[in-house]
Amino acid sequence: MKGIRRMVGIDRLNYYTPRSYLDMHTLAEARGVDPMKYIKGIGQEKMSVIGPHEDIITMAAEAAAPICDDKAAIDLIIFATESGVDYSKAAAIYLQHLLEIPNPVRVIELKQACYALTSGLHLARDFVLSHPGKKALVVSSDVAWYGFETAGEVTQGAGAIAMIVSENPRLAVVNSGTPYTSDVPDFYRPNTHDVPIVDGKFSIECYNTALKQTFTPGGYTYIGFHMPFAKMADKANRILQDDAISDDALLHVKSFSKEIGNIYNGSLYLALLGILTGVGDLTGETIGMFSYGSGSIGEFFTLDIQPNYQDVIEKDAWTTHLSSRQALDMLGYEMAMEHFIKREKETDYHFSLTAPDDATFALKAIDNGHRVYTRL
Ligand code: COA
Repeated sequence: MKGIRRMVGIDRLNYYTPRSYLDMHTLAEARGVDPMKYIKGIGQEKMSVIGPHEDIITMAAEAAAPICDDKAAIDLIIFATESGVDYSKAAAIYLQHLLEIPNPVRVIELKQACYALTSGLHLARDFVLSHPGKKALVVSSDVAWYGFETAGEVTQGAGAIAMIVSENPRLAVVNSGTPYTSDVPDFYRPNTHDVPIVDGKFSIECYNTALKQTFTPGGYTYIGFHMPFAKMADKANRILQDDAISDDALLHVKSFSKEIGNIYNGSLYLALLGILTGVGDLTGETIGMFSYGSGSIGEFFTLDIQPNYQDVIEKDAWTTHLSSRQALDMLGYEMAMEHFIKREKETDYHFSLTAPDDATFALKAIDNGHRVYTRL
């Protein structure tokens, strides 16, 4: 192989978000806030709300199952999350079992706020480069939860991203990035806390600093930005001044995020979904990607979109998945989150409700702290 540049990157991409959402008008009315603050000021229209049959592992499985058609080639599963369910056991083990990915396979869970998925993508790329012929499944799955009646309530959401990383990827080659690490207390969740300690305004400053430190000009038409809320893309784009993308491009960047809300690790990749879905032909395009994880790390990297990438993306399924969700009223939202928070503290639990018809996976039980899943 000496002298030949091996191309590695994203071969397949998919996402999952729960089947229910809360409209920001509904939340604003209940909280006595002008809806325009949430819709114009924060940039959100809806946020997905996790269902009673699901958790981060079922969401990851829903995202990953449709793109795992060559399970025997998957030698590595990386599960990025900041909503982990166990201090010791990797969520990736439950996922490997649920998806029936055969041995030999290595599994690991990664954490660094919203950056871990990007780290996982680059680690998987390096793994594939050093293990010719092997593939990696890289997923993120998170429930962004700040609590009722908090400033962060409008920046919640839930969802998962899944990617197959391989040689000669059909979707996008992943190029090396520029990272910037800085120890800052902008957002963190110590073991004593159920919700993050967040200084939202300071976090935006830290985000912007990391963007300035890492951005590499390249005349990009599209740049994916990490979005804890959709308006963050506008704020970040302004920082880039002459390198900023157009308002039209920004609409694509935000299109999934403003409907789904914050999915922590996967939020940057919602920008990629929006660009892939909204733009007619991206063949040969180099897309900029800015990843940020509080605490903090920023990384700017690029993706080279491959010829015939349209053959491996599911634009119609992706948009239908969004448009077919059901609206919740305030009571429905509060009951869903109360159920989720209570269940995540249970050592023993049995699911007694009915999963929606379109669900493929469910958390059936928690048995002495061990989670038991079922394929429906
Ligand atoms: N109509 C239109 N816009 C309005 C408005 C109205 N009636 N009322 C307020 N706004 C605008 C404000 O001017 C502001 O715009 P700006 O950011 O361009 O200045 C925006 O809405 C937000 O208002 P603000 O008062 O700053 O909101 P807030 O104090 O409620 O905080 C966040 C907003 C995003 C900081 C907060 O929700 C948060 O901390 N979320 C968590 C974010 C996070 O997780 N960060 C870490 C990961 S990167």
